[in-house]
Amino acid sequence: MQWIQVCKEEELAEGQFKIVEKDDGDELLVARAEGELLAVVNECSHDRRGFDGGCIEAGLLVCPRHGARFCLRTGKALTPPAYVDIDTFVVKVEQGMILVEA
Ligand code: FES
Repeated sequence: MQWIQVCKEEELAEGQFKIVEKDDGDELLVARAEGELLAVVNECSHDRRGFDGGCIEAGLLVCPRHGARFCLRTGKALTPPAYVDIDTFVVKVEQGMILVEA
């Protein structure tokens, strides 16, 4: 498995996320939510644009445009107007650095 460096562990605070780009141009969103490091594709299944400007509330990713909420653990679309789940990715920490599956 290939990994992408996200940032140092201490640079990602609770309730925050960072976006990284894969070699193929797709983007991943890596978040710290309720103490866990979690990653999903940075593309809302409602209109296929990124979550930049969105936020994390009660451990859920909230889309900035129409407010759909996604489970960061499972990628499940929990509220309209998104009905299709999004992909999740493995995250790990090595030597203080957060890495996400590429
Ligand atoms: S683009 Fe995400 S809810 Fe509409």
